[in-house]
Amino acid sequence: MSNAGSKRAAQPIRRVKGTRDLLPPDTAVWAAVEATARQVFERYGYGEVRTPILEETELFVRGVGEATDIVGKEMYTFTDKGGRSLTLRPESTASVARAYVENGLQQWPSPVKLFYIGPQFRYERPQKGRYRQFFQIGAELLGDPGPISDAELLLMLVDFLGALEFTGLTVLLNTVGGEESREAYRRELVRFLEPKKDLLSEDSRRRLDTNPLRILDTKSRAERELLEGAPRLVDSLTSEDREHFEAVRGVLDRFGVSYRLDDRLVRGLDYYTRTVFEITAAGLGAQDAIVGGGRYDGLISEVGGAETPGIGFAIGADRLIDVLPESFRRRALPAPAVLVATVGDVPLDEALALAQELRAAGLPALAELARRSVKNSLKRADRLGLAHVLLLGADELAAGEVTVKDLSTGDQVRLGRAEVADRLRSVAAAGSPDQDDEEEER
Ligand code: HAM
Repeated sequence: MSNAGSKRAAQPIRRVKGTRDLLPPDTAVWAAVEATARQVFERYGYGEVRTPILEETELFVRGVGEATDIVGKEMYTFTDKGGRSLTLRPESTASVARAYVENGLQQWPSPVKLFYIGPQFRYERPQKGRYRQFFQIGAELLGDPGPISDAELLLMLVDFLGALEFTGLTVLLNTVGGEESREAYRRELVRFLEPKKDLLSEDSRRRLDTNPLRILDTKSRAERELLEGAPRLVDSLTSEDREHFEAVRGVLDRFGVSYRLDDRLVRGLDYYTRTVFEITAAGLGAQDAIVGGGRYDGLISEVGGAETPGIGFAIGADRLIDVLPESFRRRALPAPAVLVATVGDVPLDEALALAQELRAAGLPALAELARRSVKNSLKRADRLGLAHVLLLGADELAAGEVTVKDLSTGDQVRLGRAEVADRLRSVAAAGSPDQDDEEEER
């Protein structure tokens, strides 16, 4: 049916709540962060794994744990047309564990070191630093139970953050012990909290039955006060768990990793055993964790594989990039291109021809392909943040030359066409468009 005559604009369609469009030049910063991750992780022997974004719901129910907020409240779960219950992955460790088992990676030389970069989905209340689609950069080390592996993984993480030019970040470190230690502690904690049950929030009362350790994570001030006299997990540790933790700390000390012990750090996923850690950053408000991770020696068997220890971390890329040091961000931004414009009635494809010459020489270049006045081209170049405009008039064309206009000083100089690429390259390398002015004026 035609709607001729009624030219009403259609309702704009908006992005899904809690998701974002990432646009240039920010995407260049994302790409530089990801490239740095690849570079650093590969130095430690990690290879990239890409698992599907869709998984059977059961994977997360078993892997992450039925009593967790993620599985209980936050998953994007739906039934597909074949009647299967599928879930958009809320995290990637369970997927990596499944892929390890399914692809027979236990046959590979141990330990197997994998990293991933990709979107995750959680139905959380969106706020600053918290999205429903967010991105993680993660690493998993599978097959080595020893404490030196815990420390090596943390060294890699610290190296990566250093390569992004972060300073002053501290790893918050704790141990949640193995199954035996945690069982003993769970009993102690429940014994302590049971008589105070009425003072607990509804959430915490529920957790008292399902997952009492998570109560330690409470944000409520009243509950925090209540917990001040609570038994401490460290007092319930088996001697093996205690030794493991001490050994991790010993290696971190040897390599000068700055960490702070935090015996309230319990993490929100059920698979953790022994070492757990987070890194928080100032300037992010309530959602200040930029990294979370830890050891998960029971996860692989939980998803159907032979018992295999593992440890890993995931960095929240959205938050990380929010607080990225300015020095790194600046370096990551693309080198501004030049704009090539024709003057008068010089054919427009002469601008394209010069732009192609510069591109062939490896320089970024834009060409003015619509007829505009020089004034408007200069204005456009200025809005694009470019440093130079190259002008091709009939004169220049006849002489095999180009007029190079420096937008920051307004100076212009005529150069032989063959010299232009070299000149632009040396100006870019000097980092300052003004540096060659004197020479140009000669
Ligand atoms: P997680 O603590 O749930 O751990 O998430 C890791 C990081 O992802 C968080 O510290 C945060 O930076 C980021 N993140 C989580 N949820 C959101 C959100 N809604 N919006 C923005 N960023 C978010 C895990 O996911 C584990 N798989 C980590 C791990 C790997 N443990 C062992 N290996």
